[in-house]
Amino acid sequence: PLVTLREVLGAAAAGGYAVGAFNCNNMEILQAIMAAAEAERSPVIIQASQGAIKYAGLDYIAAMAKTALASATVPVVLHLDHGTSYEQVIRCLAAGFSSVMIDASRLPLEENIALTKEVVKAARAVGASVEAELGRIGGTEDDISVAEREAFFTDPDEAAYFVEQTGVDALAVAIGTAHGPYRWEPKLDFERLSQIAAKVKVPLVLHGSSGVPAEDIREAIKRGIRKINIDTDIRIAFVKRMREVLAANPDEIDPRKILGPAREAATEVIREKMRIFGSSGKA
Ligand code: G3H
Ligand code: 13P
Ligand code: ZN
Ligand code: NA
Repeated sequence: PLVTLREVLGAAAAGGYAVGAFNCNNMEILQAIMAAAEAERSPVIIQASQGAIKYAGLDYIAAMAKTALASATVPVVLHLDHGTSYEQVIRCLAAGFSSVMIDASRLPLEENIALTKEVVKAARAVGASVEAELGRIGGTEDDISVAEREAFFTDPDEAAYFVEQTGVDALAVAIGTAHGPYRWEPKLDFERLSQIAAKVKVPLVLHGSSGVPAEDIREAIKRGIRKINIDTDIRIAFVKRMREVLAANPDEIDPRKILGPAREAATEVIREKMRIFGSSGKA
């Protein structure tokens, strides 16, 4: 069944685990996410990034998700990742998404609050949930120093104020992770995470979670992370298997013989994440 972040993250908070939010760009990755969730009996969040919407088209993503949902026996959230505008949020809600992220983290605090509030109002009207971001989670390709990165970490008092003002259902926090494959050892600010969790009553979200060691993921969950975004680790597993198949069969001309095994590799990595997050067996 299609549900919102409120249901799956509420249960995760009560049970002390986290739910994976997996980025989907094409049919094979969507099928891998669903196969993993069914096999693990895990609730799951399917999310569409800006790149996914550009690549596949919102209509295709929504239609594929609808098809996946028709046979799903676990709770599924269909979520917009890093929504860029009020207009895009409305398009996704109209397409049947049950949840949206509005990422106005680049804007000054009060402007972030103002835009996020508008999105919450629209989402509420159709029963959808909203995630927002405070602080700034960069990319691993950004060439900035550690000190510059830390300057964008989420402030606990500001986070409390932000959630109170906006009424969001979940908050993405900047505590040391970054989008993409790490070129350094990610160092999470666990103390800050605990301070934020103590002041903020809604579930917290960890972006850029690919490449973060399992023990750090478990520690983050202990301290209040309830939604964990994974994209890069799926891409790595998917493309690695494609390369292996192509290397072993250089004359292969059937895409299914290449993408099928890649889909299986993606399923395996997603299942492993669900076990680390503790969501396995919770559906
Ligand atoms: O937002 C996080 C995604 O990993 C970036 O994905 O390249 O498909 O926009 P994208
Ligand atoms: P990774 O690509 O580092 O897993 O980050 C995914 C993400 O945060 C999507 O919003
Ligand atoms: Zn992200
Ligand atoms: Na990452």
